[in-house]
Amino acid sequence: MKHILSAKQFSRIDLEYLMSEARKMDTILDKWGNRMFDEKIMATLFYEPSTRTRLSFESAMMRLGGKVISETDITFSSQSKGEILGDTIRIVSGYADIITIRSKNTGDALLASQYSRVPVINAGDGSGEHPTQALLDLYTISKDFPGIFTGEKLKVTFVWDLRYGRTVHSLSLLLRNFPNVSLSFVAPENLNLPEQYRTEKDIFSDVLSDELLSSTDVIYMTRVQKERFPDTESYDAVKDAFIFDTTTVEKMKSNAILMHPLPRVNEIILDVDNLPQARYFEQARNGVPMRMALIKYCLEQQ
Ligand code: CP
Repeated sequence: MKHILSAKQFSRIDLEYLMSEARKMDTILDKWGNRMFDEKIMATLFYEPSTRTRLSFESAMMRLGGKVISETDITFSSQSKGEILGDTIRIVSGYADIITIRSKNTGDALLASQYSRVPVINAGDGSGEHPTQALLDLYTISKDFPGIFTGEKLKVTFVWDLRYGRTVHSLSLLLRNFPNVSLSFVAPENLNLPEQYRTEKDIFSDVLSDELLSSTDVIYMTRVQKERFPDTESYDAVKDAFIFDTTTVEKMKSNAILMHPLPRVNEIILDVDNLPQARYFEQARNGVPMRMALIKYCLEQQ
């Protein structure tokens, strides 16, 4: 049974396979004749807010001919009556052929996989990981920089909430498969990348310098995860530390790209959306073909 729990589980060969499958899915995205999973049901258990991940998984499943059942608010789940997650998963895996789960606790997707009779996909576990976002991020990068797979040098810079940002954790893990990619991390000290995601080759700074901006191929901006801060004061102290406006983007290389997993709050000014470097809306759209590929990857041997 293939679960998707962490970006760590993917080898370079897996990534090449999944990118190629996503490219194929991109070509059949709007062809509703493709019904390869018309006898399958996906359960989406989302115990934290989501727009992109849940809806793109549901769209992906439906575009493959499948059906979706959903729990989107823990207050309407029997967990609010005291049911443990393991029991919920035992039950839901009798109702569905694949489960996607988002929760506020790091490790919940792994726990769910231990109780499930069907594949479990981690759709974000607290401040842990978000591996399917990382895969669609890599797919987005590979569209602009296909040379990433053939050894071309690439510089990726992550900016801002690298401590709680689970998409940063997963994407940095995925990019460890590419020795040609160098990683820089820009954050205030108290929001920097946790030790377990670091290597000795990484570059760290608390300032996004003009030199770094103008030498980077991919800037990966993040939101400050307000909901994970212990109190409002510590959030207020950093909430406006990094803001991308048109002047900042003009310092980037003309062929560089600006990514963001979204949602944004105020860290990218709306005027930036029209600049050629802005890639975040296309990035979100890439979630559908990538998640179609992942559903196939998990279900095809079922
Ligand atoms: N990128 C992302 O995980 O977005 P949602 O929280 O809207 O799913």
